[in-house]
Amino acid sequence: MQNKNVLLAVTGGIAAYKACALTSKLTQQGANVKVIMTESASKFVSPLTFQALSRNPVYTDTFDEKDPEKIAHIDLADWADIFLLAPATANIIGKVANGIADDIVSTIILATKAVVYIAPAMNVNMYEHPAVIKNMQVLADFGYHFIEPGAGYLACGWVGKGRLEEPETIIDVIKTHQGNRQLLAGKKVLISAGPTRERIDPVRFFSNRSTGKMGYKLAEAAYELGADVTLVSGPVDLKNPTVGIKLINVTTAQEMYEAMTDNFPNQDIVIKAAAVADYRPKITYDEKMKKQDGALQIELERTQDILKALGNRKTNQFLVGFAAETQNPIEYGTEKLKRKNLDAIVINNVAQEGAGFGSDTNIVTYVNRELEQHDIPQASKKEVANELFKLILQDMKDEKA
Ligand code: CTP
Repeated sequence: MQNKNVLLAVTGGIAAYKACALTSKLTQQGANVKVIMTESASKFVSPLTFQALSRNPVYTDTFDEKDPEKIAHIDLADWADIFLLAPATANIIGKVANGIADDIVSTIILATKAVVYIAPAMNVNMYEHPAVIKNMQVLADFGYHFIEPGAGYLACGWVGKGRLEEPETIIDVIKTHQGNRQLLAGKKVLISAGPTRERIDPVRFFSNRSTGKMGYKLAEAAYELGADVTLVSGPVDLKNPTVGIKLINVTTAQEMYEAMTDNFPNQDIVIKAAAVADYRPKITYDEKMKKQDGALQIELERTQDILKALGNRKTNQFLVGFAAETQNPIEYGTEKLKRKNLDAIVINNVAQEGAGFGSDTNIVTYVNRELEQHDIPQASKKEVANELFKLILQDMKDEKA
């Protein structure tokens, strides 16, 4: 935490008293701490306590502008490396989820570019209320990181989940997360995800069973590891990724080819998790095709092999392909690695239970240029994504050495 600027936002719950220990521990670990409080928080703990512990002025009023040279709340928003909202009440979670900025905390959180951590604390029934769950999901989708409350005896008398996590644990979670964020810091990562659709007529198309889940999890993981991420996505039924990820929506293999090749030159890591159609109808019809007696033949032509094209024009990019196979996965996968000039290939046997299309988990084998194999046993697609980035980074280091 050394020299990190931490803006600690305290809102009005009984757990506000734990924010005092948090301030003290953060300053002991070398962080510069400034505290902002809502009016209700100051009913639980006096701003003077935080001032003494942080050795900095405490801000409670958006309109209390002491220095005419600066606009205090914007200055604080810009100053922060880390915005820590602890304890976060149901009220502040609801306000931020809806973009309401009517006090110093909700105003600064909208203005800051800092990494935001939220440690909720409230009565267990409030924590489990659908409105709070929905609002927390909205905040998670903004890319804010939650430090979940612990379970136990609550000040209100109930026993359950809602107790502010202990200050030491909050700091540990932030430290681990900040450490991880360095792994891909300064790196540009381009990922393709989902199927493509190849049009027959205005109402019909050829496609495949890819849901895009693996590619989206890769994009999410890369973003959390600090990368600058671009995600080229075929048509999927998934929520948009966090706002920090640049999303380019495409439909056809040709559109995906253009988006990938346009964005390819200045990337560090490129991962092609998309299931691209290998063929498209040679002729597409502007009007809906009418059925006729007898069989129908549709002539197909090859689409571009995007990965192969990228492999041919590769300079410094670390290029990773995916191979979805139903038989001889390692043999077919390594053949693709060589044929498409890749740095690594992620092979999955889509016939296996718990792997491949639509599943929330995956089972893969990562093979690099040296044909070293790493098996990643069944794990959530997010865990698989994190594991893959570790292997990729290791191979990038080895290539440089
Ligand atoms: N791929 C691509 N463009 C295509 C087809 C595939 O970029 N037109 C990429 C996929 O994104 C994936 C990899 O190639 O990363 C392997 O895809 P797969 O369909 O398994 O392999 P193919 O090359 O199509 O080989 P085959 O059909 O023989 O299995």
